[in-house]
Amino acid sequence: MRTRPSKDIIVAIDGFSSCGKSTLAKALAKYLGYTYIDTGAMYRAVTLFFLQQKIKWQDVAEKAIADQLDKIVIEFKYNEEKKKSETYLNGENVEEEIRGKAVSDSVSEVSQIKTIRQRMVALQRRAGQNKGLVMDGRDIGTKVFPEAEVKVYMTADPEIRAQRRYDELKTKGQELSFEAVLQNLSKRDWHDTHREENPLIQAEDAIVLDNSSMNQKEQFEWVLEKIQKKLNQ
Ligand code: DC
Repeated sequence: MRTRPSKDIIVAIDGFSSCGKSTLAKALAKYLGYTYIDTGAMYRAVTLFFLQQKIKWQDVAEKAIADQLDKIVIEFKYNEEKKKSETYLNGENVEEEIRGKAVSDSVSEVSQIKTIRQRMVALQRRAGQNKGLVMDGRDIGTKVFPEAEVKVYMTADPEIRAQRRYDELKTKGQELSFEAVLQNLSKRDWHDTHREENPLIQAEDAIVLDNSSMNQKEQFEWVLEKIQKKLNQ
């Protein structure tokens, strides 16, 4: 652990699903004493709300979507026992539920809706007002904080990502076939890169991190070096 640097910057981490973005982002935020925000969890929480309320997002007008968003409060609270930040939807801890199959199957469709993206981006920008932030997602370096001092674009071989996700789900007791995981991942990759609104693209000034054959420590050190260079400029 070390003390917070004297200069506060924004570290934007974008990339494909199951690349290990949140693991890396959390570790960096902890080391730097910065705030960490998982923007995927925000889209997942909105998706859970829509599923709970049985709202057919495909058929609903943007105005009705906006009215529903007014009813949603998303918060992150640190769980001292588990030593991790957890997502709350309208006061309820939904950390487990938003990672389940129902939300995972629908989140890429829900996160394409313009009104939802605009609302989430506004919330994300507010969270970064004072800098000192590590944020991960798909559009952080391109749309949310195009001025971020450090931008990382993460990628890895799809089969390797699917294997990591499969192993993670297995340890959580969720039995899905490897093929089903790979299929879900490919579908999300397609939606993320092809949607009209803020698609996943590499920012011109982003550094590319292909972690297909890197462990977590190697990735952490590689990015930390780039951050430290920026802090010393
Ligand atoms: O990072 P994740 O897998 O938890 O993200 C869940 C979904 O949310 C994913 O399908 C893409 C979408 N997402 C997005 O569109 N923009 C972001 N900034 C973060 C996530």
